[in-house]
Amino acid sequence: MTYQASNEEHPIEIINIASLEGRVKERMEKGAFGYIRGGSEDEWTMKENTSSFHNKTIMPRVLRGIDHADLHTKLWDIDLATPIIQAPSAAQGLAHEKGEADTAKGVAAAGSIFSISTYANTTIEDAAAAAPNAPQFFQLYMSKDDGFNAFILEKAVKAVILTADSTLGGYREEDIVNKFQFPLPMPNLAAYSAESDSGDGEGKGIAEIYAAAKQGLVPEDIKKIKDLTSLPVFVKGIQSPEDAEVAIAAGADGIWISNHGGRQLDGGPASFDVLPLIAGVVNKRVPIVFDSGVRRGEHVFKALASGADLVAIGRPVIYGLNLGGAEGVTSVFNHLNKELSITMQLAGTRTIDEVKNTRLYDAK
Ligand code: FNR
Ligand code: LAC
Repeated sequence: MTYQASNEEHPIEIINIASLEGRVKERMEKGAFGYIRGGSEDEWTMKENTSSFHNKTIMPRVLRGIDHADLHTKLWDIDLATPIIQAPSAAQGLAHEKGEADTAKGVAAAGSIFSISTYANTTIEDAAAAAPNAPQFFQLYMSKDDGFNAFILEKAVKAVILTADSTLGGYREEDIVNKFQFPLPMPNLAAYSAESDSGDGEGKGIAEIYAAAKQGLVPEDIKKIKDLTSLPVFVKGIQSPEDAEVAIAAGADGIWISNHGGRQLDGGPASFDVLPLIAGVVNKRVPIVFDSGVRRGEHVFKALASGADLVAIGRPVIYGLNLGGAEGVTSVFNHLNKELSITMQLAGTRTIDEVKNTRLYDAK
């Protein structure tokens, strides 16, 4: 199975983020597109992720002398030009010949944080080299093989993200119909398999590459990872206040609220609907990243006003990568930043801290 990845490198015109999906569908091989777009089962949770932002409204304030919005913010010692960051996604070689290296470049140009997946088609080192001195997080699918975990965590640059919501793949019907398999080598796995027989992801489906991952993750695994790296560790895929508490008690340095963009458990709540409850329990003890379903600047605003410190986007970044390479990725950030700035000014907020202190109202 071959996939024709893009090699385009240019900014892209964007009317809205949602329209990117249709533009990519027209040009990308069906199996690759289905893997990127798809959610699990009825895709109910995936759809709820975006529609749930309508459940809350922003009460606009006027006469506050706001003539611009300042999107700058900070995570630990990392200065950011925007509270929007990129969510780790596997196999970006499906979208562009330069894969994660171009995404890293485009995200760095946007003054944001890039996160590379365990199942990337680019090595951690090459992605870091594509955007020297830019903050790069490493997303870990913890392996059953502790040798792999130690080997790969050595390479992490700025922070580690332990993904906890995917001990096996969600039931994604499009991938089954398309008999989707990853077409390209996963060099971070291959580098280790050169020293062991853990194998690579190339030519495997999602179920098979997950099979090498640790299935029964437990809180002690957070401690295990923290013993293998001195970097801060986010736990990604938290959807309940109880699990946020468990993760923090086990040493998590950050909570990443996510339902994997509706690709895992279908029938779970929209990620935005659980954010306020979890933020209440976290109570600012550690930073919160929020993702799943964000497609508008007002979605970013509402997530920040509901307790998120940073908001991550997944599919939109991959679509920008396919349409324009690194510059296409930067265009996606520039567009969402523009929408966020408009929302902030019309809501009567100048800074990200003011947004975080804004109260939202139930729509009905
Ligand atoms: C993902 N996501 C993901 N998450 C993760 O922790 N490791 C991974 O390797 C991947 N891979 C991946 C591939 C593709 C094609 C997609 C679309 C997503 C999930 C990702 O980090 C994020 O949680 C969601 O994409 C956020 O939802 P939106 O913005 O895509 O709606
Ligand atoms: C996915 C995995 C790789 O969502 O996280 O496809």
